[in-house]
Amino acid sequence: TVLRVAAISGSLRRASANTGLIRAAAEICRESIPGLHIDHVDISELPLLNTDLEVNGRFPPAVEAFRDKVSSADCFLFASPEYNYSISGPLKNALDWGSRPPNCWADRAAAMLSASGGTGGSRSQYHIRQVGVFLDIHFINKPEVFTKAHLPPRKFDADGDLIDSETKEQVRRMLLSLQAFALRLQGKSEQGN
Ligand code: FNR
Repeated sequence: TVLRVAAISGSLRRASANTGLIRAAAEICRESIPGLHIDHVDISELPLLNTDLEVNGRFPPAVEAFRDKVSSADCFLFASPEYNYSISGPLKNALDWGSRPPNCWADRAAAMLSASGGTGGSRSQYHIRQVGVFLDIHFINKPEVFTKAHLPPRKFDADGDLIDSETKEQVRRMLLSLQAFALRLQGKSEQGN
């Protein structure tokens, strides 16, 4: 069984460390976790949520395309900076668009990464878990991965690529935990039945 992971970065910055975490996760899956395939779902073209944009049950084209990708994924990986102790506005906007009826997020496993300042985004991770309660997203509890984007020793290069092998190993362990939980939720085993 190959699980398709829809991965969403909460930062729209070109050299985003969070988008770098998603690239690192995708590379780890290509190299050593054949049962997971990561698709980076870009949220930068989504309009700001406005339900007036919903006409006769249809959403704007960028929203329709986003919702299709979310609906067809087996599980989710979120990487968001912490902004003022919460998740980023762009990520909340994407979560909200996907939540419009019918809710596209429901009944899937998810994991959360963050690259941020002071505490590496720990407070924002509790906020996305709270949003996930209403959306019926089932987050793995452990391992938690918090990375400090800017403080030395440097974990990201100038392009936002993850260059720290210890963090890569943490991400790999988190992906294995996500895989196991997603399979459990789908009623399958890692042996693939
Ligand atoms: C931040 N940053 C931040 N960091 C943190 O640990 N806690 C916080 O509350 C905030 N608040 C905050 C607000 C705003 C408006 C900005 C722009 C930044 C720092 C931020 O998380 C950090 O720069 C991340 O590295 C940004 O992620 P990307 O863009 O590198 O993925």
